[in-house]
Amino acid sequence: MAEVTLSRCRTLASFSEDAGSLRRTYLSPPMRQVHREIAGWLAALGMTTRIDAVGNLRAVYAGTDQSAPCLLIGSHLDTVPNAGFYDGMLGVVLAIALLEALENRKLPYPIEVVGFSEEEGVRFGIPFIGSRALVGRVDEQLLNNQDAAGASVRKAIEDFGLNPAEIPNAVINNDACAYLEFHIEQGPVLENLGRSLGVVETIAGQTRMDLVFTGRANHAGTTPMDLRFDAMAGAAEWITVVEQTAKSIPGLVATVGSVQTMPGATNVIAAEAHLSLDVRHAADNARRRAVEQFVDRAKEISQSRGLAVSSTIRLNQPAVSMDPGLTREVESAIREVGCRPHRMVSGAGHDAMILAERIPCAMIFLRTPGGISHDPAESVYAEDVSKAIECGLQLLDQLASLPSFQPRTLRA
Ligand code: HGY
Ligand code: MN
Ligand code: MN
Repeated sequence: MAEVTLSRCRTLASFSEDAGSLRRTYLSPPMRQVHREIAGWLAALGMTTRIDAVGNLRAVYAGTDQSAPCLLIGSHLDTVPNAGFYDGMLGVVLAIALLEALENRKLPYPIEVVGFSEEEGVRFGIPFIGSRALVGRVDEQLLNNQDAAGASVRKAIEDFGLNPAEIPNAVINNDACAYLEFHIEQGPVLENLGRSLGVVETIAGQTRMDLVFTGRANHAGTTPMDLRFDAMAGAAEWITVVEQTAKSIPGLVATVGSVQTMPGATNVIAAEAHLSLDVRHAADNARRRAVEQFVDRAKEISQSRGLAVSSTIRLNQPAVSMDPGLTREVESAIREVGCRPHRMVSGAGHDAMILAERIPCAMIFLRTPGGISHDPAESVYAEDVSKAIECGLQLLDQLASLPSFQPRTLRA
């Protein structure tokens, strides 16, 4: 099973917008190939696949009792640019491997496999479009967001052949009782501990924002150093301040991942520098205080250089705790398959933090060799994939005895 799972991830990774590397952004053409491939795997299980109005892949594995509430298992199918092969995809492929490992055995409750259409936020700068649809949080403002080419989310949905008017039908109904997500850790913790599997207690909150430093373009050869209003130099000073400040705050990470200058010519002093900022912490007040500090320092640096600076928040996502009861069940399932569980914070964001607004959620991490992710060097050990499948099967049986998974007719 593990080798099939890994090979399927590699197959999905071959569907990319770029030749030679993996980039699959929201509702890009390769996503259609992904849907077709996964639908084929699910059809072999007798499952019918549908694509909901925001492009999520959805398919139900029936239970023995139609009145029993439904367990959702999934992750995202979109990627960052130059991505690894396992971030997101592994969670969907593992869900399918679990169902195949049941060997046509039915559980009392149905299981819905979900492949979210957009979690990374690459195309429109706002993440979680797929999972927001399941909790009813896709609104006009989100639909009007535009990508770099000026196409709106609404247009992207229509161009993919979907109907925005049907978005309300994507919302999970009262039958959904829990969400489970398998995901690579994307960091070094489990590897340093020598553990195969981890259980997520909290997903760190994150702020994503854009900043623009504005100066004045001028000739690179004729303008003396003390007569410049160099937006790039101001941005560079601020980036080092962000790094130094983040290093001084325990548990905080802050990243300037992209910088674009205008006009962007070698022999022209930059008039503008457009930067992204990503700030994360498990405690929301620590993250918010850090963001305030970063914005204040940007203003001070700009003032000292005769520049202007503006900042726009693109995402302000609070930290989210996973369901304590489900987390305990995951922990005992990990022990049952002979592994030592490790409770941990996820520095990466996940769809579970959105689904948790409506239903109890739990996440199972798989060790990430070298702690490398968001890069083609991203990998996962086959033996950890096997352990994850064993643990998942154990967990599915454990959940069948929980009150929240009992058919409505049997519940008080
Ligand atoms: O950036 C993240 O938190 C994740 O990869 N979506
Ligand atoms: Mn990611
Ligand atoms: Mn991910």
